Amino acid sequence: MLDVQNIREDFPILKRQVNGKPLVYFDNAATSQTPQTVIDAIVDYYSNYNANIHRGVHTLSQEATDAYEIARKKVQEHFSAKHSHEIILTSGTTHSINIVATGFTNLLSKGDEIIVSALEHHSNIVPWQMLCERTGAILKVIPMNEEGELLMDVYDQLLSNKTKLVFTNHISNALGTINPIEEIIKKAHNAGAAVLIDGAQACPHVKPDVQALDVDFYVASAHKLCGPTGVGLLYGKEEWLNKLPPYQGGGEMIDEVTFEKTTYAGLPHKFEAGTPNICGGIAFGVALDYMNSIGFDAIAAYENELLEYGTQKLLEIEGLKIYGTSKNKTSVISFNIDHIHPYDIGSIIDKLGIAVRTGHHCAQPIMDFYKIPGTIRASFSFYNTKEEIDSLVEAVKKAKMMLA
Ligand code: ALA
Repeated sequence: MLDVQNIREDFPILKRQVNGKPLVYFDNAATSQTPQTVIDAIVDYYSNYNANIHRGVHTLSQEATDAYEIARKKVQEHFSAKHSHEIILTSGTTHSINIVATGFTNLLSKGDEIIVSALEHHSNIVPWQMLCERTGAILKVIPMNEEGELLMDVYDQLLSNKTKLVFTNHISNALGTINPIEEIIKKAHNAGAAVLIDGAQACPHVKPDVQALDVDFYVASAHKLCGPTGVGLLYGKEEWLNKLPPYQGGGEMIDEVTFEKTTYAGLPHKFEAGTPNICGGIAFGVALDYMNSIGFDAIAAYENELLEYGTQKLLEIEGLKIYGTSKNKTSVISFNIDHIHPYDIGSIIDKLGIAVRTGHHCAQPIMDFYKIPGTIRASFSFYNTKEEIDSLVEAVKKAKMMLA
């Protein structure tokens, strides 16, 4: 059992008021809030050992380098990667996907096929479309059903010896569906294809074991799991990362530079050109410590309780429809009421202190499937409460009355 009242004390922002009302923060799928330990780590870095890493012999540089490499090790352990050099610290999920999508340019030929799911965020669609434009490869889509689940029998039919890559999210940001990634990975490997899993929405709720999954690439962002923005990871199996060319040229990613020829550094530095988000990387490690001290089993159990409670309470509102009704979903509720525009409800409930996301959630193909412009999305975290859900329900009822 989580001591939620105690946990809430760790998050200074949860004490603030918005528009004269206590903040109810239900936009966790967009970004999570930051506990004091992470804020302290950021202040400590800039107050005491701010320096560039992997470069200086001076004490500050050594301290910053050690702290950054300890953070990489924490990420490795958290995701159960075999080697710490299989963890590339990036600016976030989008950057990580682009490293892989660009890296495959010379590994694909005209007519090769790559498979995406209908449930993707734009960041796991557009880089692959750009890859297809460069290579002449063909993009195929695993469709979804009304509940927001992937049609796995169609996936079976799409796979062939032409399939070179499959990429899906672990959990849908717009609907909360948990995808059957073990099955997706196994079947792709049987067809000889590599797999990238976008874990941006999964990592706040589950602790993925990349070796047990046998996944080729797994990507995520720190800011979804209590860390800062501007930092994330690309996990790649060593053999794959060695096969891919560097994404950017610059300092730190080289072995030797002459005007005739440059040779590249080994992993992970080959993919880490330029000064990275040093403070962000260190704070990412502290955020993982924080989440693990609470425990992912306890987090998942509590968030499921919130999901069930929220679903039941919201469905009591007449005319409210939930999009994404898979039994296998996490604490995200996407909904609309009658024909009221989501933006109008979002704006009114913001006046009552409630933060939700409205719109297409960077997943326009899902909205097109349901023939809607967008949804109101309430996404719950382990620091939310049932009382906050009651406030959401009351606020939505009020908004509905005003707009009817
Ligand atoms: N991908 C983030 C979301 O779903 C920003 O809101």
